[in-house]
Amino acid sequence: MNVEREKRAVAEAAAEYLVDGMTVGLGTGSTVAYLLPALARRRLAIRCVASSPRTEHAARELGLSVEPFGTVSQLDVTIDGADQIAPDGWLIKGGGAAHTREKIVAAAGQFVVIADSTKPVGALRPPIPLELLAFGLSATLCRLHPVALRDVPRSPDGGVIAGYQGAVGDPARLAARLSATPGLVDHGLFPPELVAIVLIGHDDEVERRVLRSAAR
Ligand code: 5RP
Repeated sequence: MNVEREKRAVAEAAAEYLVDGMTVGLGTGSTVAYLLPALARRRLAIRCVASSPRTEHAARELGLSVEPFGTVSQLDVTIDGADQIAPDGWLIKGGGAAHTREKIVAAAGQFVVIADSTKPVGALRPPIPLELLAFGLSATLCRLHPVALRDVPRSPDGGVIAGYQGAVGDPARLAARLSATPGLVDHGLFPPELVAIVLIGHDDEVERRVLRSAAR
């Protein structure tokens, strides 16, 4: 297994979904890093929004048109990586601490997940990335126990980054519990309803899992 080759293969396959005139959400991470040059090479007339300053900068350097995500209300397609992919389509994202913006961008378009063969798992396992408000942080951490702060910079929106360390069990139940916790900005559990297509690299092959094909 050559993970870098798999990342490149799924990124290039995802780039082929795009056509002129589309609005495109760009995720964050090392797999997306292969997507950006693949997109730039296609020289499409597309408008992009980025889920992180890192992606925004890299995309602009390659000549892609990146707009602030404030005026664009809907995207055609969003392409992003994942940390874990469960058999039922639940994802864990946020290894790059960008999950809050990534979820907003994913929800705004047909979400295409690109992943190497290490990402599918039998069952999701902790930690679950969390973004927390700095206000009342100690109280929020107590409510979320067991949780550990991550030694990474705050999010671009000022959020503190942590990881939920408890067992995942039923992801829907845990997602509801996390979302209901005051002080939590967002968590890295992404439900299958958010996902349209998952592309998984297996050496030179790309497996395509369609979860939701119709446009919303
Ligand atoms: C960043 C993310 C990434 O998509 C996820 O961590 C996968 O990253 P990589 O493509 O580097 O394996 O959620 O917040």
